[in-house]
Amino acid sequence: MNSGLENSINQKMERIFDQLGLDAKYAAVKVSDRPDLSDFQCNGALALAKQERKNPREIASLIAAELEKDSDLAKISVDGPGFINMTVADAFIGKVMDQAAADSRFGVEKVENPHTVVLDYGGPNVAKALHVGHLRSAVIGESFRRIENFVGNTTISDVHFGDWGTPMGMILSEIIRQDGSLAKVETYDIAAISEFYKKANARCKEDESAKENARQITNQIQNKVPEYYQAWQHLRRVSVEAVKKLYDELDTHFDLWLGESDAHEPSFEVVKLAADKGISEIDDGATIIRLEETNKPKPPVILVKSDGSFAYQVTDVATILTRVRDLHADEIVYFVDQRQALHFEQVFEVAQKLGIAPGVEMTHRGFGTVNGADGKPFKTRDGGVMTLENLIQMSKDKVRDSLPKAEETEGYTAEEIEKMVSQIAIGAIKYQDLKNNTASGYVFDLDDFAKFEGKTGPYIQYAIARINSILRKAAEAGISEGPVRLTNKEERDLALKIAQLNAVVMRAHTEKEPSIISDYVYGLAQVFSGFYNVSPIMSAETPEIAASRLRLARMVRDILKLLLDLLGIEAPEVMLKK
Ligand code: ARG
Repeated sequence: MNSGLENSINQKMERIFDQLGLDAKYAAVKVSDRPDLSDFQCNGALALAKQERKNPREIASLIAAELEKDSDLAKISVDGPGFINMTVADAFIGKVMDQAAADSRFGVEKVENPHTVVLDYGGPNVAKALHVGHLRSAVIGESFRRIENFVGNTTISDVHFGDWGTPMGMILSEIIRQDGSLAKVETYDIAAISEFYKKANARCKEDESAKENARQITNQIQNKVPEYYQAWQHLRRVSVEAVKKLYDELDTHFDLWLGESDAHEPSFEVVKLAADKGISEIDDGATIIRLEETNKPKPPVILVKSDGSFAYQVTDVATILTRVRDLHADEIVYFVDQRQALHFEQVFEVAQKLGIAPGVEMTHRGFGTVNGADGKPFKTRDGGVMTLENLIQMSKDKVRDSLPKAEETEGYTAEEIEKMVSQIAIGAIKYQDLKNNTASGYVFDLDDFAKFEGKTGPYIQYAIARINSILRKAAEAGISEGPVRLTNKEERDLALKIAQLNAVVMRAHTEKEPSIISDYVYGLAQVFSGFYNVSPIMSAETPEIAASRLRLARMVRDILKLLLDLLGIEAPEVMLKK
């Protein structure tokens, strides 16, 4: 079934254009810019008139005359230079609502030609704690994964671990410096390994020979010399365990736990292919590919560094090769900091030149940084790096403060409260991130992000819990839902808002922009609130009106839950407040 309103009005319009022998590409109908005047509008007559050198009002009137015959439309007018404004009949809106109510997708379409999308939204690094930058990748990427699945595409998400660069050699060389050997490596946990990394990092900044030593050990790892390779495997294993815990907590899922190291063998293929095609050259001992500079300088892509190791760029090119060849990707989307925009531009261009991703759509969805109140990248109160673990802890503490303790509630256990704390805290963090346009950075609002009012995750969760309670009471009163019939403006506004669902989900999908959903979710919760203030269910004028309102309320609850799920946010059945 097709989602209701906007599509059916569009179809009606296309039919009329056909009938009148007009070019149907101008038939597009959209939600009205003037909701006070009409529900939908079509501006096509203007462009059409221009093309046909006719009077736009005359063409618009011809179309309007046909629309008049349709009883699904209550009012048609031609305004201004030739805009067609349409008001839909209440009965038709009711019918569309009833159809959507019977459908678990509420009329949301699936894509016509489903394809396979590989998603890259991890990028954690061995021995480094996840920080707020990784939060954005995880939150936006996970939401997009869910949106793609919902519209019918097949998704494969890959964490793409940063596990193959010089930091690997740095850590091992630091361990050897302190212990004299790698004998104790397997006893070190993530905290110890991170410490070694920090020390190594400081040392390598000052001491060129330490850096050289780290490079050599990195080479040994990459050449799989057993002693080093096994030690590296431990570093990786421990790091994977640590980030897995956090990704689980964030309800962020990866199908594949591959890393840059998995790009090692295919990197040889890339280098060979580039040489065979004659597009690479040796420059100062390094193997590079020069790119055309159109209007801005574009540095060459480095495949192999002068010390013989593979560069970050070649690992991404080689990963494209395997994603296309082995995973059969039709599309690859990267959710990575905007500061890597040039890197991806270069990588995509090289992939094209090499012909390893024919017809594959590759997109880098860059995002801005998470900032503190001072507009600078978000730090802890004492100026340290804000790790994801810190942030989640902080958020949970804040939420816990606003909830009653188990003994102050009627029958909730401490575990149940803690689960609620987690759902609300994670929901608050994620919504705070997803309510912003992906491309722009945002200020993490420490005071407001977990409030129950305003544009926050908890506000939406609370709206759902409130409807849950309304539904429970209605069930106790023996009311069940029935056909939607509109009796006041607020019901009508709500139904029209619900009718936008399909367009909203489709736009979030095509624009790769979850904030389109988070915006709509907030709007829907608000419109519902306006509806419920004047449209009681229990004390409705007639049983039919009660049944109709109950249907609208139930749909709003289910749609809010569905959309929160697409954002990666859980909705507790009830929300307790102090
Ligand atoms: N590990 C990288 C970093 O921390 C991010 C990786 C992003 N994904 C990719 N395919 N390059 O900068």
